[in-house]
Parts: sequence; C-alpha cells; structure tokens
Amino acid sequence: MLAALVRRLPRLLRGHRLVTPGTVLRWHRRLVAGKWTCPSRTGRPPVDDAVVALIERTARENSGWGYRRIQGELLKLGHRVAASTILQSSLTTRVKRPVCDRYSPGKPINRGRLGVADAELYDEIGTGYSLGRRTDPRWMAAILAALGDSRSIIDVGAGTGSYEPDDRTVLAIEPSVEMIRQRPHGTSPVVRAVAEALPVRDHAVDAALAVLTVHHWTDWRRGLAELRRVAPRQVVLAYDTRRHTEFWFVREYVPEIADLELTRPSAADIANELGADSVTQLPLPWDFTDGVFPAYWRRPAAYLDPRVRRACSALAQTDPDAVERGIRRLRKDLHSGRWHEQHQDLLNLDHWDAGFRLVVSYNRAQAG
Ligand SMILES: C[S@@+](CC[C@H](N)C(=O)[O-])C[C@H]1O[C@@H](n2cnc3c(N)ncnc32)[C@H](O)[C@@H]1O
Repeated sequence: MLAALVRRLPRLLRGHRLVTPGTVLRWHRRLVAGKWTCPSRTGRPPVDDAVVALIERTARENSGWGYRRIQGELLKLGHRVAASTILQSSLTTRVKRPVCDRYSPGKPINRGRLGVADAELYDEIGTGYSLGRRTDPRWMAAILAALGDSRSIIDVGAGTGSYEPDDRTVLAIEPSVEMIRQRPHGTSPVVRAVAEALPVRDHAVDAALAVLTVHHWTDWRRGLAELRRVAPRQVVLAYDTRRHTEFWFVREYVPEIADLELTRPSAADIANELGADSVTQLPLPWDFTDGVFPAYWRRPAAYLDPRVRRACSALAQTDPDAVERGIRRLRKDLHSGRWHEQHQDLLNLDHWDAGFRLVVSYNRAQAG
C-alpha cells in the first residue's frame, strides 16, 4: 500500500523521493518477516514423515522412475502428494539440514552461516529481469549437449529458469525472492538456497548446472565443491572476465566496469577449480536474444534503453554516475556517426567472442 501511495505523489515530489516503491515494499516485507514469529502457516499442510520416508524408499529402490511415476504409484496407495514434494523429498537428505528452506514469499533467508550479498543484490536489480533476459536457442542447444544423457539436474543460481531443460527432472536453486517471483508458471520446482550449501544429499542428481551465476557467489570455490558433491557432472556457463573488459562499451564508455569484472572469478579459474574436461567458446551471435551485458555488441543503440541496462548486473553494480556519463557520450557518438566510423569492423561480423565459455567436468571416481 505504501508503494502505491508513493506512486501517487506529484511528479515533482516523486522525482525527489529518496526511495523507490520497490525499496518501500522490501522494507515492508522485512518488517513483516521480522515480526512474524508464529509458527503456524497457511498453505499446504506439511507432508507426513511416513509418506516422506515412503517417497525416499521408492525413489531409492526404483532409480529409473521419474517423479511423475512415483506420484502415480503413491496415488495407487492412497497418498495424494504434489510432484514438487516428491522431487524435493527424493533429493533432500533428512540428515543434512538445508541452510535455506523451500521458497515462501517474504521469508528471510538464513544468513547464519553464509554471506549472501549478491543474492540480495538480485532482489534489488532483478526487477524486470525476465523482460530483458530471454533464452537464446543457440545457448540452450549447447547446454543440452553438455548435459548429455543426464536425467536429473540441479540448476544452481537458476534465476528465472532460462536454461532449464523441460524434458528432464530439474530442481532449481535460487536465493533471490525477486527472481523466484519471475519464474514462469510450469517451470521446475525451486528451493530458496545458495550454491555454497546445497540442500541435497551427495550424488543426488546426474548433473549440476550453473549459468552465469558463479561470479556472484560469496564463496565460489565452496559453491563449486558443492556442485561436485551433489553431481558427477558439472556444466558451468561462465566468462573470461578480461575479455569482457575489452568490450568497446567498457573500454570506451564505462571503464569503471573493469574494476568490478577483474575481481570476479574468470572462466579459466572455474575450469581449473573443477578440473574441467572441456571448455568451449560460446561466441555471441549479433542477434542474440538473451540480454546479457555484451549481447548488443553490434546494436549499440540498445544500451540507451534503461530497461536493457537494468538487466545487466555489471551495469547495475557500477557507479550510476559513471554509467550515466558513458551513456551520454555513447548517445552523442551514435548521433554524430562517430561510433559507426570507429566500429566498421564489428558491423561486418556475425559473431563476436565476448568471452563466454561452457565448462564441463565429470568426476570420474564418483561417476564410476
Ligand atoms: C545473472 S543471474 C543468472 C540466472 C540464470 N542462471 C540465467 O542464466 O538466466 C545470476 C543468479 O545468481 C543468483 N545468485 C547470486 N548469489 C548466489 C549464490 N550464492 N548461490 C546461488 N545463486 C546465487 C542470483 O540471485 C541470480 O538469480
């Protein structure tokens, strides 16, 4: 309600307000979450322990069955259980307590053991993510090939689920409420948790997928160790941070972005840590549909649009004054034709290597 009231302020006052409606909403959510100590919840009642044990046993003894099959078999026995409950029960060990729970709106994440600075970042900058970030079929094909015949997948730092296959069992892990909220209906079940402490048992799935997320993790080495713990195959889409800093937008307009990029783990660091079996270049086609930061390398006018900039964490995490200065210069150069003069070479290319790499690793010892 407060957010709605803020929107009704006269334009002059709104222009001078210190907080956005989104911030007011977040304060409100935190306030409610902080005050709400009563354990009783609305929604689906908890599943009986005996049924959970039955799901776990059925999954263990029939490793070829998918969760739909298990759901059908349980129904025959008179237990009506949601598919997402089966998926979670068959993957989650009862011994290892999850650091974070299943998603429930407004529920604060357990910060006791981990810093989750970048997870919170996406509550701030993730608004509108799904508008600018849409699955590109060419990346999807590369990811599917890398997943091979894996039937069960954990998608870590899943965001809105852009690269989740729809023909396998997928469990999404995502810490940001804002990102979870934007997951389209019908996408795989999501658990609110962080990579550094995955709430599933050892070797629970065939493959762990992490797309453009490792550079956000508070402790990326620990997160990668978790991927290895839970799956024999890891598929990580990352980027060469130095190559990103060679992008014309960074070099000529907002060099401040380089300071941030060079603090992030690069694809080579990730490959090294995982002991990768393969690292494949994923050059960006000129008409790439997923609005990752360098996606518009041949369509410079796109960066003048604030919605495009908002979907890029590198821009959202850089000093807004520096970004604004760079955008002013870009607008001028586009208007005068200077940008086109300087970048004739790019205009003739269909692909450009912005540094994206698909890192694949198999833990042979575990895979047996
Ligand atoms: C650029 S988005 C990528 C989302 C999705 N994988 C995709 O490709 O569209 C990065 C995601 O990483 C998540 N993230 C940040 N810190 C994380 C952590 N410690 N563990 C897991 N995910 C994290 C963010 O909340 C965000 O959804």
